[in-house]
Amino acid sequence: MKSSFPMDNKRSSAKPLLFCLIMSCLLVGSWAQISNKIGINYGRFGNNLPSPYRSIEIIKSMKAGRVKLYDSDHEVLKLLSGTKLEVSIMIPNSDIINLGLEQTSADQWVEDNVVPYYPATMIRFILVGNRVLSHYSDHDREIWRHLVPAMRRVKAALRARYMRNIKVSTSLAMDILQSTFPPSNGTFRSDVSANVVAPLMHFLNSTNSYLFLNVYPYFPWSTNPKDISLDSALFEGNVSYKDPGSGLVYNNLLDQMLDSINFAMEKLGYPNVPLVISETGWPNSGDLDQIGANVHNAATYNRNLIGRMTANPPLGTPARPGVVIPTFIYSLFDENQKAGIGTERHWGLLRQDGTSIYDIDLSGERQESDYRPLPVTQNNEPYRGKIWCVAAAEANLTELGSALNFACNQGNGTCAALAPSRECYQPVSLVRHASYAFSSYWVQFRSLGASCYFNGLAVQTTTDPGNLF
Ligand SMILES: *[C@@H]1O[C@H](CO)[C@@H](O)[C@H](O)[C@H]1NC(C)=O
Ligand SMILES: *[C@@H]1O[C@H](CO)[C@@H](O)[C@H](O)[C@H]1NC(C)=O
Ligand SMILES: *[C@@H]1O[C@H](CO)[C@@H](O)[C@H](O)[C@H]1NC(C)=O
Ligand SMILES: *[C@@H]1O[C@H](CO)[C@@H](O)[C@H](O)[C@H]1NC(C)=O
Ligand SMILES: *[C@@H]1O[C@H](CO)[C@@H](O)[C@H](O)[C@H]1NC(C)=O
Repeated sequence: MKSSFPMDNKRSSAKPLLFCLIMSCLLVGSWAQISNKIGINYGRFGNNLPSPYRSIEIIKSMKAGRVKLYDSDHEVLKLLSGTKLEVSIMIPNSDIINLGLEQTSADQWVEDNVVPYYPATMIRFILVGNRVLSHYSDHDREIWRHLVPAMRRVKAALRARYMRNIKVSTSLAMDILQSTFPPSNGTFRSDVSANVVAPLMHFLNSTNSYLFLNVYPYFPWSTNPKDISLDSALFEGNVSYKDPGSGLVYNNLLDQMLDSINFAMEKLGYPNVPLVISETGWPNSGDLDQIGANVHNAATYNRNLIGRMTANPPLGTPARPGVVIPTFIYSLFDENQKAGIGTERHWGLLRQDGTSIYDIDLSGERQESDYRPLPVTQNNEPYRGKIWCVAAAEANLTELGSALNFACNQGNGTCAALAPSRECYQPVSLVRHASYAFSSYWVQFRSLGASCYFNGLAVQTTTDPGNLF
């Protein structure tokens, strides 16, 4: 590891043990000491993923300490029984209103999804919803209102069953902040601060629970690579930034993002609610127009992350030094059924078939020198050439026809040139017409966030398909 953090290499000395003993004495109060073991997100938006049985064997062999599910799948919960993995399960957003309204619904949910598996399956966290505050329809806002009441009811249902050790939280994203920079300027969004986040903080504080947050340095860096250094996003090199508000010095982007949340919580009057990183990671591949998504950066980010988060004594962040931040890496597998831009399908440590994309050791014990060399980096600069969006070679023709119709119905005159008598009508071929329609659609909607994907029917290419048109 090239990292320059002075506390990184102390794992084998005797000091940390003494320090830990002292820390655990100090911490016998509200929040009991939580382990620094790395967790993994077990997402399953893919076809042909290894079976749950095999996936859990893989998770164990990777030496993960925790696993986070996006549901409470009963087969998976059963398979996790008797393992040493600490488990986080999730209640879908669509259940929240009901749970918030009726205690009997929350009781029933716990009865169905926790009671049969606990404690043989070490359920430690129940997350009520996923990124609830990142969705904005009228119905979503209705869910916001019921979020904290639902969390209270689930907690009450657990208490009634004497399952006090299971913590209740919800998983949020960085977009709950309206200001993140400099970190001391961190402030919650005004539309949720008083009515949702304040009661949420009160709940987390009074139940000794944690704020679960998805924190991806990849996103601010990739949208602003001119102003943010890649080294600071990857924990590499010797970069430093001094926050003019707090005077604290930062040498990586993750710490800055975490402290912007810490400062926001402090302003709201909750300086002690601890964080869990519910998702973080780096894409190993992506579309041609997405910078920095490659195996080299993904391995570098995740390895350095694991080194930092398992350091003993814990590093914490500049605003909260020495605090353990339990961290779940996203994700176990590349998931080929996730929609959207190319990176969405490439956050995995493993391929769809369960083989590893690069060497990684979640225990944090392996040193950089133990790993095989990484492929050289290719795309850390924005791609400047032209890119077209065309029909994928293996596209199903029936589905391609539907996608062609869809694309032609978006925007203004998207497929005008494909009309009989117009310049791109001949030669009449579904693949050629679809390729024209996809490119024409993408030109109009790309700046609005549209992706060249169409459920896998479209791909980006740097080869001019001009001879087609
Ligand atoms: C990092 O840079 C600072 C100032 O630029 C310097 O004082 C420090 O010694 C450097 N640390 C390492 C490990 O190179
Ligand atoms: C802090 O955020 C506010 C807006 O929320 C902005 O006006 C101000 O410039 C920021 N402070 C600094 C030092 O960037
Ligand atoms: C948070 O919890 C602690 C300990 O339980 C308590 O002393 C403190 O007053 C709480 N903070 C708020 C703002 O409620
Ligand atoms: C193509 O897609 C259609 C509709 O989804 C499906 O019914 C058909 O079986 C697919 N054909 C092939 C060859 O996969
Ligand atoms: C289509 O045209 C309308 C009016 O001319 C305009 O408001 C709209 O933004 C256009 N849409 C696109 C995708 O260009």
